[in-house]
Amino acid sequence: MAADAFVSQLNEQIGHEFAAHQQYVACAVYYDSETLPQLARFFYRQALEERDHAMMMVQYLLDADQPVQVPGVSAPQAEFADIVAPVSLALDQERRVSEQINALAAVARNEGDYTSEQFIQWFIKEQVEEVATMSDLLRVVERSRESPMDVETWMAREHSSAAGADPRPAGAGA
Ligand SMILES: [Fe+2]
Ligand SMILES: [Fe+2]
Repeated sequence: MAADAFVSQLNEQIGHEFAAHQQYVACAVYYDSETLPQLARFFYRQALEERDHAMMMVQYLLDADQPVQVPGVSAPQAEFADIVAPVSLALDQERRVSEQINALAAVARNEGDYTSEQFIQWFIKEQVEEVATMSDLLRVVERSRESPMDVETWMAREHSSAAGADPRPAGAGA
């Protein structure tokens, strides 16, 4: 039985994940409009991952027979000063989400809800990776400020594809 405190905080987190999806779509569209297709592709893919995070949380609540609130989200930032700004915003966002996920783990543990604690472990690991990925990208994009094709070449080499055995998003393979 999932703890009520965990369930309500996880419902809030679903909103944060959908907001992250929208923000990354806005970043991708910005890069696409600047004709930086590798950066655009990276952010379109990150956006899908955020949607999957939300849907993994939805599926967990469905499996646990708990209420699910599908949230509205506020408009993302869509205008950026330069090619560095979206990545810098993304890194801030990933750091914030890491804190939110850690807080969720703390609630589960404090409530003695070991099932939810185990569920949220995957996201702790995921956040370590996402913060590291964005930190790396920020360094590269900062060096490429005057020469955007450098970061495009780096993206094409370092970020071609990714997949793994992850929790199932709601609706996947349905
Ligand atoms: Fe996420
Ligand atoms: Fe993320």
